[in-house]
Amino acid sequence: MSKLLYKVNNLTKIFGKDQNCVTALKSVDLEIFEGDFIAITGLSGSGKTTFLNILAGLIPATDGQVLLDNENILNWNDKQLSDYRNLSLGYVMQNFGLINTLNVLNNVLLPIKKNKRKYKNIAIEKLSILKIDSKTKALPYQLSGGQKQRVAIARALINNPKVIFADEPTGALDSENSQNIIDILKQINDNGTTIILVTHEESIARQCKKIIKFHDGKIVDIKIM
Ligand SMILES: Nc1ncnc2c1ncn2[C@@H]1O[C@H](COP(=O)(O)OP(=O)(O)OP(=O)(O)O)[C@@H](O)[C@H]1O
Ligand SMILES: [Mg+2]
Repeated sequence: MSKLLYKVNNLTKIFGKDQNCVTALKSVDLEIFEGDFIAITGLSGSGKTTFLNILAGLIPATDGQVLLDNENILNWNDKQLSDYRNLSLGYVMQNFGLINTLNVLNNVLLPIKKNKRKYKNIAIEKLSILKIDSKTKALPYQLSGGQKQRVAIARALINNPKVIFADEPTGALDSENSQNIIDILKQINDNGTTIILVTHEESIARQCKKIIKFHDGKIVDIKIM
């Protein structure tokens, strides 16, 4: 039996106030286990990114719990949340999230707050796994969409995180490059890392271990592959 990693209870997120409010998540319950490789699917606006952002400690929730080792991360203070983000997880953002003024190497080193220099070789190793180590000195604007995505993934790997959240990691890629990214994520998952990725592509979702479908802020289907 795999170990429970996250237990999400009654997770609710409302953006805005009064007439302008949008309920992005409606009482979502979910268990995520160590070693899971989950695809989150659903129409645009169904709450996928919001769900990922809350689990990753990037935005607060309106109601509910996200238990990680029996601690509710929604009660954590800023310092606890930033340690969690920098040390325990990797996050690949929907629009890459690269810093335009930093070169590739320094973008990958961004989550490292202390002794950055010690991590330089690890950063280069991660870039070489993603086959983008020839571009360490390039600035983001000098890269193609697929190359930016690979840098964003290398950055998510820098701390050998327990869990990786990836929001449409293949969204900007052609099918060959998409498959390369999925093959890399599969390898990382085989080594024990839990992966939760958002995708619109059926062919990508089918390669994950579970498919969780969101509709209108709720989970409407869970398929075990
Ligand atoms: N910061 C925000 N302020 C107000 N509303 C927001 C905010 N972020 C998201 N929303 C709303 O919450 C809902 C869910 O958005 P979310 O980004 O989670 O969708 P998504 O499933 O990731 O969509 P996509 O596939 O287009 O990325 C949408 O109706 C969106 O307009
Ligand atoms: Mg999204």
